[in-house]
Amino acid sequence: MSKPRIGIIISTTREGRFGDRVARWVAELAVAQTDIETEIVDLRDYPLPFFEAAASPAYVPIETPEARKWANKIAELDGYIFITAEYNHSISGVLKNAVDYLFAEPNRKPAAFVGYGAVGGARAVEQLRLMAIELDIVPLKKAVHINMEPMLGLLREGKDFADYPYLAPTVTTMLDELSWYAQTLKAGRQSAQRDAA
Ligand SMILES: Cc1cc2nc3c(=O)[nH]c(=O)nc-3n(C[C@H](O)[C@H](O)[C@H](O)COP(=O)(O)O)c2cc1C
Repeated sequence: MSKPRIGIIISTTREGRFGDRVARWVAELAVAQTDIETEIVDLRDYPLPFFEAAASPAYVPIETPEARKWANKIAELDGYIFITAEYNHSISGVLKNAVDYLFAEPNRKPAAFVGYGAVGGARAVEQLRLMAIELDIVPLKKAVHINMEPMLGLLREGKDFADYPYLAPTVTTMLDELSWYAQTLKAGRQSAQRDAA
């Protein structure tokens, strides 16, 4: 079995966003994780119109080129790390819209969460976990929460993630757990495919 490939999803697209900085930091730490491969998946590279299809993708695949590009990327990955902001105690609208374009592509794959905001993006992460269930994603408990103090330090005081040394170990713990689930579920999916053939 090849190494599971994990997408680190940047979930905000606004000018001057913080999310890409968090994603790059997680990607750098993930290099040490030799049993998975990671890549950054930036929602800016997957612009989607507001979901207005006549039916849910559960029943009718959305076949526009931009929808296929997004769904194919999610399908080719074996797991996800959602780097999520908290907008009005939930996830960003652009991430919710992108999620609504999916159905089968992320099924039986794990997702881990890195939240940032006043309370570490905790409310957004909780909502994303609920959405994950509906997509048959396995949402993980072990998460990373970047709260107000480091966020303001990074955004306004020229600080770096290394100035908050308690954060990196939480990423490593999350990656260890994600790696186990990604490998276990990939083996399970492959076994189910063989049984069905
Ligand atoms: C529309 C909007 C709503 C926000 N709502 C919240 C919120 O509910 N809780 C919170 O902690 N931060 C909130 N914030 C502040 C964000 O945590 C902060 O702007 C963060 O940098 C947003 O992520 P981004 O830079 O990747 O877009 C909000 C920001 C925006 C733009």
